[in-house]
Amino acid sequence: MTHADLLGRVPALDGRYDIYGNIHKGLRRTECLLLSRLGANDFADAAATDKLLADIRRLLALAAAHVRHEDGEIHAALNGRGIATDLVDAQHDDHRAAFAALESGIVAVETAPAAHRAEAGRALYLAFAAYIADDFAHMHEEETVTAPLLWRHFTDEELLAIEMRIIASLPPEENMAFTRIMLPAMNPDQRAALVGGMLQAMPREVFAAVVEFAIRPSLTEADFQALRLSVGLAA
Ligand SMILES: [Fe+2]
Repeated sequence: MTHADLLGRVPALDGRYDIYGNIHKGLRRTECLLLSRLGANDFADAAATDKLLADIRRLLALAAAHVRHEDGEIHAALNGRGIATDLVDAQHDDHRAAFAALESGIVAVETAPAAHRAEAGRALYLAFAAYIADDFAHMHEEETVTAPLLWRHFTDEELLAIEMRIIASLPPEENMAFTRIMLPAMNPDQRAALVGGMLQAMPREVFAAVVEFAIRPSLTEADFQALRLSVGLAA
C-alpha cells in the first residue's frame, strides 16, 4: 500500500450498505485494547495474565470465525459472479497461520518457568502487534477495494441477505460475543440501527437475554441509556 493518498483511497459510502463497517470497528477496538493490555501486563501476576490470555484466545476465535464467514459468504458470492478475490483470500490464509503462531505464543507464556515468563510475554506482545498491523491493512483493503466491488455487483438487499445468512449461522453464544465487541466500537446511530433491527427480528425473550448478556454489559451506563431512549426500550 502506498501512503501518499491515504484519504483519497477511501471510497464514499454514498448511502450504500456498509457490510464490513460494524464488525471491523469491533475487531479494531478489541485488538487495540488487547495490545495495550499486553504491553502493560505484569507477567508475574498469574491471575491477571491468565485473564488476559483467555481474552486474547476469545478474540482470536472470533477473528477466525469472521475470516470463515467472509470466505464462505462474501468471497464465495464474488467468485460466483466471476470476480476474483485472490489477494484477500491470501491475506485470510496468512491470518490462519498467524492464529496458530499466536496460540503457540500464548502456550509459551503459560508454560514458561517464572523467570522466563516476561520474556515469553514480550514475544507474544510483538507477535500480536505484527498480526494486528497486518489485520488493519487487510481490513483497509476490504473496505476500500472489496467493498466497492460488492457495491458494483450486488444490490444492498443482496448484501443485507449475505449478512443475515452469516448472522443466522452463528450459535447464540457466538452471536452475543460478536455483539459485545461491536457495540462499544460503534457510533450512536449505528448502535440504534443494529439494536433496533434485533428488537424487530428477535422473539421478546431472546432479545431480553441479548440486552442482559451482550448489550448492557458492553456499554457504559450513559451509552446504554442513550441507546435505550433512541430504540424505545422500556427502562
Ligand atoms: Fe477479511
